[in-house]
Amino acid sequence: MGRVSHLLAIAMLVVGCTDDFDVDVPAGFPALPVPADNALTAERVHLGKRLFYDTQLSRTREVACGSCHLAEHAFADPRRLSAGVEGRLGSRNAPSIVNLAYNTSFFWDGGAPTLEQQAIGPIINPLEMDMKIGDVVARLEADASYVDAFDRAYDTRPSPGTVTKALASFMRTIVSGDSRYDRFQRGDATALTESEQRGLAIATGERGECFHCHVGFNFTNNGFRNNNLYADYVDLGRARVTELADDVGKFKVPTLRNVALTAPYMHDGSLPTLEAVVEHYSSGGFASPTSDPTIRPLDLTAEEKRDLVAFLRALTDESLATDPRFRP
Ligand code: HEC
Ligand code: HEC
Repeated sequence: MGRVSHLLAIAMLVVGCTDDFDVDVPAGFPALPVPADNALTAERVHLGKRLFYDTQLSRTREVACGSCHLAEHAFADPRRLSAGVEGRLGSRNAPSIVNLAYNTSFFWDGGAPTLEQQAIGPIINPLEMDMKIGDVVARLEADASYVDAFDRAYDTRPSPGTVTKALASFMRTIVSGDSRYDRFQRGDATALTESEQRGLAIATGERGECFHCHVGFNFTNNGFRNNNLYADYVDLGRARVTELADDVGKFKVPTLRNVALTAPYMHDGSLPTLEAVVEHYSSGGFASPTSDPTIRPLDLTAEEKRDLVAFLRALTDESLATDPRFRP
């Protein structure tokens, strides 16, 4: 009997390794959304991670996804604008890619509806990896260990669809929710200082109004808003996708998690520090026809500004940067 149950346990372990993949979903987070046609398995996640850190995905073999999305910066880029192949600069700041499984659209303008569809963007973008997806597949086909890995993950040869599915699978597992703020929420009253607690009250109350957009477990309503960064937007934001005048200057509301690690800020990286961000909201920024009505001059006191910045810094999950599951 003992032996049978032991064998059974081993069999279940093996099944557990190959047929599904457990993501540690933090307390207070909803169940991880995973599309039915791309269930998570260890093989898919590992393949996706290998692709994420592989410079072969770029034409010149110099740039990997991980060159612009750095683990120690919560997978954002500390450079204002990222450098793609041959040092080519794009026009937007690379955001954090943490907790993206919960997002309902991708890119600052929401131009991609799923992580699978997003993943092809940087590969073919001439300013990023500048690759033809067919050439990516040809390079992978030439590598027997990749052919084997695709076979085990998707039971097929490398293909555009499985390259993007594997990348999406890896990214879906990058979930983070162990900041001091989270420990405070779970009942550890000492996890936040007095100043951070005052900052939390400002962010979640009418004094700061942040909660209208940065709300819920991931501090985003997944909407598109104009937060008064400019009176005249060079980058039209959401209007680039919808072509509606009403969407000019609206950008995806980003999460505030790990924001202390992801400077510089905003779609163009134009605000260098969290102090500058808080200064922006305190002043109310530049109004225009698509401005959000909740953005107005707050005239925060010096102490309120310090408290708000302190709160934002308490949203850092220190374990993320060194987590071996997400590093090459
Ligand atoms: C040259 C730098 C660079 C490289 C290489 C790069 N990215 Fe990005 N990434 C960016 C920038 C910049 C943005 C923001 C673009 C935008 O919003 O239009 C971005 C956005 C994203 C987003 C959207 C995040 C969100 O919150 O909506 C995801 C996901 C992502 N990248 C994944 C990847 C993957 C996967 C790869 C490799 C296949 C990759 N990136 C390669 C710079 C890069
Ligand atoms: C009306 C919705 C709205 C409100 C209210 C709001 N924000 Fe934002 N926030 C946004 C949008 C949209 C962006 C991205 C804008 C862009 O990229 O141009 C943003 C960006 C940020 C960023 C930069 C994040 C990054 O990854 O670059 C921080 C930090 C931030 N907001 C903090 C706050 C704080 C603190 C408050 C309250 C004082 C606040 N926000 C109020 C919509 C809002």
